[in-house]
Amino acid sequence: MSSLVAINQHRPMPVTNGVTPGNQREAKKAPGGYMNHVTTDRYVANGDLDDDINNPIQLKPLPRLPVPPLHNTLAAYLQSLRATVSREQYAITESLVREFGRPGGPGEYLQMKLLEYAESQANWSNRWWLDDMYLHNHVSLPLNSNPGMVFPKQHFKDEGQRLRFAAKLISGILDYKVIIDARALPVDRVRHHKPGQPLCMEQYYRLFSSYRVPGVVKDSLVSPSSSVMPEPEHIIVVCNNQFFVLDVIVNFKRLSEQDLLSQLKRIVDLAREDPAPHTVGLLTTMGRVEWATARKKLIKASTNRDSLDMIERCIFVLCLDANMGHPPAEVGKPMDADDEPLAHQMLHGGGTSLNSGNRWFDKTMQFIIGDDGTCGLNYEHSPSEGVAVVQLVEHLLRYIDSETHKRKLTRAQSICELPCPRVLRWKLSHETIQDIETARGGMDRLVDDFDLKLLRYTKFGKGFPKSQNMSPDAFIQIALQFTYFRIYGHLTSTYESASTRRFLEGRVDNIRAATVEALEFSRSMIGDRQATELEKMDLLRAAIQRQTDICITNILGQGFDCHLLGLRELSRELGEPMPEIFTDEAYRMSNYFNLSTSQVLTKLDTFMCYGAVVPDGYGAAYNPHEDYILFAIASWKRCPTTSSEVFRDKLYKSLNDMHALCTRMSLNNNHIVK
Ligand code: COA
Repeated sequence: MSSLVAINQHRPMPVTNGVTPGNQREAKKAPGGYMNHVTTDRYVANGDLDDDINNPIQLKPLPRLPVPPLHNTLAAYLQSLRATVSREQYAITESLVREFGRPGGPGEYLQMKLLEYAESQANWSNRWWLDDMYLHNHVSLPLNSNPGMVFPKQHFKDEGQRLRFAAKLISGILDYKVIIDARALPVDRVRHHKPGQPLCMEQYYRLFSSYRVPGVVKDSLVSPSSSVMPEPEHIIVVCNNQFFVLDVIVNFKRLSEQDLLSQLKRIVDLAREDPAPHTVGLLTTMGRVEWATARKKLIKASTNRDSLDMIERCIFVLCLDANMGHPPAEVGKPMDADDEPLAHQMLHGGGTSLNSGNRWFDKTMQFIIGDDGTCGLNYEHSPSEGVAVVQLVEHLLRYIDSETHKRKLTRAQSICELPCPRVLRWKLSHETIQDIETARGGMDRLVDDFDLKLLRYTKFGKGFPKSQNMSPDAFIQIALQFTYFRIYGHLTSTYESASTRRFLEGRVDNIRAATVEALEFSRSMIGDRQATELEKMDLLRAAIQRQTDICITNILGQGFDCHLLGLRELSRELGEPMPEIFTDEAYRMSNYFNLSTSQVLTKLDTFMCYGAVVPDGYGAAYNPHEDYILFAIASWKRCPTTSSEVFRDKLYKSLNDMHALCTRMSLNNNHIVK
């Protein structure tokens, strides 16, 4: 692992939201990025959540994630199964839960141990959550794990314009990184449900300082900085499947946009002159165990070790893609189904004959720029949630658009005085060449299998549920449940990311939308249960209320998914016999997410997208705007029971039906009031 430092490890308390108590004014920039904690006057530390709202500049640490009461968790777990498992299975699980939670039983013992453990941790859940969600997950990163994001389309008349845009993008990122390095990002705050509470910013600080190393047992999330190594001052530019080191800080000075442009031109020329004989980047598309095994062979040669080290320690990767043959898209046109090819480019690169090898999927941030104005990113998910990525993207696009940067760049000097960017060399054995060929076949199968549909839903946006006094997010989640029920006649275990950033180092827990209330509403809407319009409306309100309650429970740190995971993993670590509730079929089913959803909110006309997490499921990402909603629905073609097109079309219908129901009821109410 050379210079890399494992970061998925416990960190001692007290760690605060950018503030080390007692040392607030002396903090300094740390070479290790987020491993050290620094403050500026813009930082606000936190303590009791309510106190913070009233007195936002107190310097108190963020609260730690609570361990929920055992019996609340067990009750919520049972409740969550009611709409998705059979009566017989429910009865079995109920008795296992009773046994687990009985006085003096295994649940109480593990809860006690968990409370003790939590005392010594910044965040008791993170280590287990990270392993379970990402590092122990052996599936390949593209499509299965890494999300993609499409930026608004650009207009490039020629290669020069693309590279100018790329230079601005690099500058914009470095601009943001200065704020990150100073740990000086303004603290995000909760907008409702106790508005004003500060949120943990740690995820932002990992965007440019982490890397995922494949492992045979499990992957590691590592920080490329350490006290013995200087901070990275280079990025990697991938062009024509070749990897170039571009130093962005030379003699302690950040390269100007003009210098960046000159260097990028050199890279493009070099990449054209000397095409890569083998597409090494494809290795990162393999299953994690296969890639870990292949990596061991690769690093036998010191040349490869050095090249890998440069990639792993870089600030980020910039992919200058080959033309994908997309039909020319209008600049400024709203994002809609025509933009599906762009989402494919961000998620997988279009196959090995196009750009799938023009990537390094283990690196946290990969920015992608096509020659036709396509741009966006692909990111490795384990260090951060999409929320942090979206904030960065908003900064970047504002930076690029800003008046000061709209001016034409000055003419390039004929001779760039900077050293020429260097291409990374590889010494590939027959075995590694064979690994690359294996990766090629696997990646092409994955790409062929991927089924993605976009929906720009314009009949309403989040303004409409708000006008009905309903949470827009809950409204959308119920629409997704209704859609699933419409297609399959039953509900399924559903994941929705709920941010727990109100707490120190908070990541996410799971808002489970497959509730009895959602089931009853869905049944009423398709006539599976007789109901008048008024009753349907009541059922909808009850489903939304339930969904909202579960959401609030989660964001306040009382979710049951992380808690059960913690109890299970603690039991394993303590060498206890595994309690039967964790080997029960219902527990397996409950963690098999046929519907994996998340809201990634941005005011930009853009969207995040990702694949389904199980072979017979759907991924559903959405970005609700005030007057429209963008959905990205994904599934796998090889599964005979799923179809993204069918899901998209039925979702459209479900949203229409729910809108019509609410509108009719509002009209009736007005009529009655009159
Ligand atoms: N009546 C009227 N308006 C309401 C309302 C009601 N009953 N309930 C909510 N609203 C309003 C809110 O005030 C808010 O207004 P705003 O647009 O002015 O900000 C808006 O509706 C949105 O609220 P809601 O739809 O309830 O969603 P939310 O903003 O609370 O988000 C989650 C809910 C779960 C998405 C959010 O808490 C979260 O966790 N986000 C992070 C998810 C994540 O990590 N995604 C990335 C995964 S990679």
